[in-house]
Parts: sequence; C-alpha cells; structure tokens
Amino acid sequence: MNKICLITGATSGIGRAAAKELSKLGFDLILTGRSEEEGKKLSDSLNKKYKINSEFIRCDISALKDVRLFAEKVKSKYDRLDVLINNAGSRFSEYQKSSDEIELTFATNHLGHFLLTYLLIDLLKRSDKARIINVSSSAHYGKQIDIDDLVSPKEYNRSLVYGRSKLANVLFTYEFVKRNDNPNIVMNALDPGGVATNFAKNEGLIHWLKHIAYYIAKRQLLTPKQGAETVIYLASSEEVKDVTGKFFFEKKEKKSSDESYDLAKSKQIWELSEKLCGIKFL
Ligand SMILES: NC(=O)c1ccc[n+]([C@@H]2O[C@H](COP(=O)([O-])OP(=O)(O)OC[C@H]3O[C@@H](n4cnc5c(N)ncnc54)[C@H](OP(=O)(O)O)[C@@H]3O)[C@@H](O)[C@H]2O)c1
Repeated sequence: MNKICLITGATSGIGRAAAKELSKLGFDLILTGRSEEEGKKLSDSLNKKYKINSEFIRCDISALKDVRLFAEKVKSKYDRLDVLINNAGSRFSEYQKSSDEIELTFATNHLGHFLLTYLLIDLLKRSDKARIINVSSSAHYGKQIDIDDLVSPKEYNRSLVYGRSKLANVLFTYEFVKRNDNPNIVMNALDPGGVATNFAKNEGLIHWLKHIAYYIAKRQLLTPKQGAETVIYLASSEEVKDVTGKFFFEKKEKKSSDESYDLAKSKQIWELSEKLCGIKFL
C-alpha cells in the first residue's frame, strides 16, 4: 500500500520537485495550488511516468473558506494521510489583504496551513506514523513578531512581513509539538536554502533577479530538485521517522532563531491563529 502525501504549492518550484521525487519513491500524491492547468498536467505526467495515483485539487491557501472546501474534498476521497507538506508560500511587493481581511503574506504562508493542518489532523491520525513538514526559510532569522501587528501591519515592509510569516511557521511547529500528545504524528520545519524557482516572480523581474543574484553571489543557489532534498528527507527517511519539533537545513538539525524558541510567542501565535480560524486546535 502506497503512502499518501499531500503537498501544498505543488504547481511550481520546491513543491513540484518534491512531487516528482516522492513519485519516484512510490508515494501517492494529493497536489494543490491555484494553477489548475499546471497541477493537472503535473499529476497526469506523474501517474503515467511513475505508475502512482496522484491528483490535483485546486485551493487558494490564503482563503480560509477555500481551505475548508479543499479539506472537505480531501476527506471525502481519502481515509488516511501519511505526510502533509505545508509548502505553498509567497512574498508581495505591496500590502494586500486576503479575502478574510488578513495581511496576505501571513494568510498565505502561515494561517491557511494552520487551518489545513487542523482540518486534516484526523486523517493524519489514521496513519501508522504521520509526518507534517513546514517549509520555512532562513528569512525567519532576525525577525521579531508583534502579535498585534500581524493581521493589519501598521507599516508594510515585504521582507519583514515575509520573514515574520516564516517565523510563524517555526513557532507553529514548536507549539504543535508541545500540545500534541499523539506519538504517531511528528512535525518539523526546514529551510530549503536559496532556490531558483518562481519565488519573487510575482514582484517583477528585478526582484526575482535580485533574489537569484543574492544566492549566486554566495555560490549557494540551488535547483528546485536540490531545494526539495530536505523536504524529501523529512517525508521519507527512516532516520527521522520519530524526530519531532526540530528545524532542519541541508538534511541536518539546525538551531532556528532565538525568537522562535520564545514559548510565550508560540502560544500567542497559536491562540491568534485559532481565533482567526474560529477553531480550537489541540
Ligand atoms: N525559493 C527560495 O529561495 C526559498 C527560500 C526559502 C524558503 N522558500 C519557501 O519555499 C516554499 C516554496 O516556494 P518556491 O521557492 O518553490 O516558490 P514558487 O516556485 O513560487 O512556488 C510557490 C508555490 O506556492 C503556491 N502558492 C502561492 N500562493 C498560493 C496560494 N495563495 N494558494 C495556493 N498555493 C499558492 C504556488 O502555486 P500557484 O501559483 O498554483 O497557486 C506554487 O506552487 C515557500 O513557502 C517559500 O517561502 C523558498
């Protein structure tokens, strides 16, 4: 019986590369993103090439209503989930709000995934050993979270807002592990490194080139396949099947930022997320 893995942001970059590599390992896949055309093309080609069962189901992860509809579809078709990869993410030049009136970077990169994890937790509980993987970033280092400034930031700085959302990914991971008493579910976060994907393309060619050039100058630019390596490792390696509540880089545990270990902050972000989603999670 193949393991079943759900990947958000599977239509491009790291998520797409992860989908290909996990197909080679014999996983069945639930792929999501907004681009129906890209997603369906990908699932068709993976099914044909690797003889797996994959399907694309559209979801705008920034919209809580969409996340709920998506989770309903998943739950109506699947009775188990073994791996959840919370990967979709973006950065925006201009201040924008989601359909729920929440700053778009926070809504996309953190809140939608918080709700999705909550909605799918019962499916994950049915796995012998479930793994949840949160794709964060080195951008979380050096960032502080002011809990009252996440939903409607007073000043907008795209790097700051992005870095905070990626810090929220790590705080979510640590708080989940603190609250979760099911030993069969592990959750870890990771930094994929600097990866040549479509990330920052929505901000225009200059910003995309700047992002790429920064990592080229450091001789650290990775291909999407290389950028997906730690994701694949956390999703599939026997070595880490019982490891939980850690931050990874290059397939090794690494210390995340000092701020990310602030227990008061992780509690605050958890409670704010519950309030915004209208749920009580763990
Ligand atoms: N590239 C890097 O150097 C780098 C470094 C550190 C961390 N990361 C993180 O890695 C993750 C993947 O990024 P990437 O580099 O692979 O970028 P990418 O090529 O732009 O891919 C982003 C993926 O997220 C999906 N997505 C974005 N907004 C969405 C929304 N509202 N609803 C649903 N899906 C959405 C996109 O799908 P659709 O367009 O189809 O919606 C796409 O599949 C992100 O979380 C990013 O923060 C990237």
